[in-house]
Amino acid sequence: MIRPNTSVLPANASEKHANSADDRPEAGGFLPAVGLLALDRQYDVLREEIRTAIDRVCDSGRFVLGPDVADLEAELARALGVPHAISCASGSDALLLALMALDIKPGDEVILPSYTFFATASAVTRLGAVPIFADIDPETYLIDPADVERKLSRRCRAIIPVHLFGRTADMDALLPLARSAGVPVIEDAAQSILSTWHGRCSGALGDIGCFSFYPTKNLGGCGDGGFLTTTRDDLAKSLKLLRVHGMEPRYYHQVVGINSRLDSIQAAVLRVKLPHLDSWTTARQSNAARYMELFSQYDLERFVTVPGDESRGRHVWNQFVIRVADGCRDALRTHLTQCKVGSEIYYPVPLHMQQCFAWLGWRKGDLPETERAAEETLALPIFPELSPAEQRTVVGRIAEFFNAPQTRKPKDEPARANDSALPADGPHFLRRLNAVGRADDVRC
Ligand SMILES: Cc1ncc(COP(=O)(O)O)c(C=O)c1O
Repeated sequence: MIRPNTSVLPANASEKHANSADDRPEAGGFLPAVGLLALDRQYDVLREEIRTAIDRVCDSGRFVLGPDVADLEAELARALGVPHAISCASGSDALLLALMALDIKPGDEVILPSYTFFATASAVTRLGAVPIFADIDPETYLIDPADVERKLSRRCRAIIPVHLFGRTADMDALLPLARSAGVPVIEDAAQSILSTWHGRCSGALGDIGCFSFYPTKNLGGCGDGGFLTTTRDDLAKSLKLLRVHGMEPRYYHQVVGINSRLDSIQAAVLRVKLPHLDSWTTARQSNAARYMELFSQYDLERFVTVPGDESRGRHVWNQFVIRVADGCRDALRTHLTQCKVGSEIYYPVPLHMQQCFAWLGWRKGDLPETERAAEETLALPIFPELSPAEQRTVVGRIAEFFNAPQTRKPKDEPARANDSALPADGPHFLRRLNAVGRADDVRC
C-alpha cells in the first residue's frame, strides 16, 4: 500500500497554490518550473532557418503539395528505408486513407487497441467499419497479440497495432497472426517515427504505416500534417490518388477520395527539422535513461513502475509514462501541478468507454489492463531539450510526494550545454510556466 507524504498533499488545491508550496523548507526550497513540453527551445535554435524556408515557399506561390512536399517525401522515404512516403494533412487522415486504400467497407471488423488516441478508432467508424478492441500488455501498454488472436474472426479485414509512446508493438507475434488470417496490418506510427524492430523502421513492417506531424510529435510541424509509408507500389498509387479526391488527370475522378494534402509551408519547416530528428531521438533516449537512474537513486520503484526499454529495437520515447498504483496517480499529478511540473494522462478514458462508441456495446471490465492503465499512468516531460537539472526537479518532486529520501548518491554526470542555460527567471522561465498544462499542446 502506497503511503504518500500527506504534508505535501493539498487540503484543497487552491489553498495549496495560495501558500506557494514551492518555497516551504520541507519541500526542499524553490525549484524552477518544468513544462511537459518546451517547443520554444527547438524553435529558438532553428528560428532563422525556419523563417527562411517559409519565405521561400511564400515567394514561390506554391502553397499546396509542390517541390518542398516532393522533396520531403523523398527524404522521409530515405530516412525510414521505405520505397514510398506519401504526405497528407494529418495523422488522422493518414489512418483514414490507409483504410480506404485497403478498401475497408461498412460492417468490416478492424482490430485495434482501445488504449490509444481517438483517431485510431474514429478512422474505422468513419467508414462504417466496426472497431474490435483488444487489450494491452500491462508492461508495454501495447496491443496484446494473445487478445488479438482471440478476437480474430472471419469478418476481420485489418489489424492496427499502435506503436504507443514511441515503442514498437510486438510485431514478431502480430505479423504472423495477420498473415495466417490473410489480413493487412496498418501500423499507427504517429508516436514512433524512427523507432525500429529488429533493425527495420516502424511503418515499414506492415502493409501501411501512418505518421503524424502534430507539433508535439518527435518530428512536429508548425501545424497539422501527416504521412504514410508503404513498401507496396499498388498501395502507394491508391494513397496518392485518394488524397487528392481520387483525381487523375485534373478534374477527372477515378474514385471518391478526400482532400488531404500537405501544405508546402509545413513541408518546408519539416525539411529543416528532419536532419535533427536522429539527435533529438538520442536525447530522448538519454533522458529516459537518466530518469531510470534518478528513480532508482530515490528507490522510487517501490511506489511507481518505470517504463522499460525495448531490447528488440529502438524505443524513441515520444512519452515517458510511469504507472502509479493504489489510486495515488491523481494526487501525485495534483502535487506536480502545484509544483509547476507538467504532466499528462494518456489516456484517461479508454476508447471502448467513450460516449460516442457506447453503441458498440462495450462495458467496463471488458478490457481490464486497458482500464487499469487509464487509471494509473502519468506522462512526465521527456522532450529532447530537457536538462538534467530539470529531470532532477521532476523526480525530486515525485520523491517529495512519496516522502522518499535519496538513498543512493548520483553518478557523476557531466553538465550538458543547456543545463546552465536555464535561468530560474527571465523570459524562458515565464514561457515554461505558461507551457505547463497548455491543453492544445499536450494532446498526444
Ligand atoms: C497514436 C495516434 N494516432 C493518431 C494520431 C492522429 O494524428 P494527428 O493529430 O496528426 O491527426 C495521434 C496524434 O495526434 C496519435 O497519437
